[in-house]
Amino acid sequence: MTSIILNGALGKMGRCISEMVKQCNANFEIVAGVDPSITKNYSDTEIKITANFPQNVKADAIIDFSNVNALSGLLDFAKTNNIPLVLATTGYNENQIEQIKKYSEILPIFFTFNMSLGINLVMQLIKKAFNTLGKDFDIEIIEKHHNKKIDAPSGTALMLADAINFEAKNYYKYIYNRHDIRKKRDDNEIGIHSVRAGSIVGEHEVIFSSQDETISIKHIANSKSVFAAGALRAAAFINNKKPGLYNMSDLVGK
Ligand SMILES: NC(=O)c1ccc[n+]([C@@H]2O[C@H](COP(=O)([O-])OP(=O)(O)OC[C@H]3O[C@@H](n4cnc5c(N)ncnc54)[C@H](O)[C@@H]3O)[C@@H](O)[C@H]2O)c1
Repeated sequence: MTSIILNGALGKMGRCISEMVKQCNANFEIVAGVDPSITKNYSDTEIKITANFPQNVKADAIIDFSNVNALSGLLDFAKTNNIPLVLATTGYNENQIEQIKKYSEILPIFFTFNMSLGINLVMQLIKKAFNTLGKDFDIEIIEKHHNKKIDAPSGTALMLADAINFEAKNYYKYIYNRHDIRKKRDDNEIGIHSVRAGSIVGEHEVIFSSQDETISIKHIANSKSVFAAGALRAAAFINNKKPGLYNMSDLVGK
């Protein structure tokens, strides 16, 4: 049994995880939820939720699907109570990512912008595509999400671009929009485009295109459950690990 503190418990993902544990997962227990949007003395979920981190609660892992502003308090709470952390929130700036890396020297932290197994496979496929096709192909990434998403481009789109750029030894620069640029694209661009509409759960497409052919590698998340299931697997994985920064490839293999 893995015991969990859920940060962002009243959000869409927080609720999805609570529901998944309640319906079908006897291997996990949510011992506390944290969400500042809780109204005094009222919660429509069965787990105990407080606006701030609880005192004297022991847990095997914290799962965080909340907001970038929660990061400092979250890292301090995890460090003080020595609880491994699964960080799933997206939209961190460079300073915050450095802060996460620093804390991972003393705390096990699982950090990924996409908890689905499928995206982990897409990462491997696009690296292979780049290494096969080389720099003669233009690369563009299109991501689509629901109209409530705050950050753009998605953390996953950046993760995919970074995976290619790592293979390309940082040859590429990222271009986020072209409406104010009146010139042809450069060879060393990866264009990254964001669509926000309706209730789209999450779609990512990586396009490799030359004069003669186009290859498109696409992932569609059909339901938020895919991220909830991944976060629970990550929580079980990170429990009892040594301090360090872990991601999906540590969980499912490279
Ligand atoms: N890594 C992944 O696979 C993955 C998948 C889906 C969503 N996400 C990310 O997870 C985050 C949450 O997504 P969501 O769809 O549940 O959003 P949401 O807006 O529905 O929920 C966020 C919740 O966090 C709460 N919150 C705000 N500030 C907080 C704080 N300081 N401490 C604790 N809770 C706080 C809000 O009150 C809200 O209930 C987003 O950043 C989203 O992009 C990541």
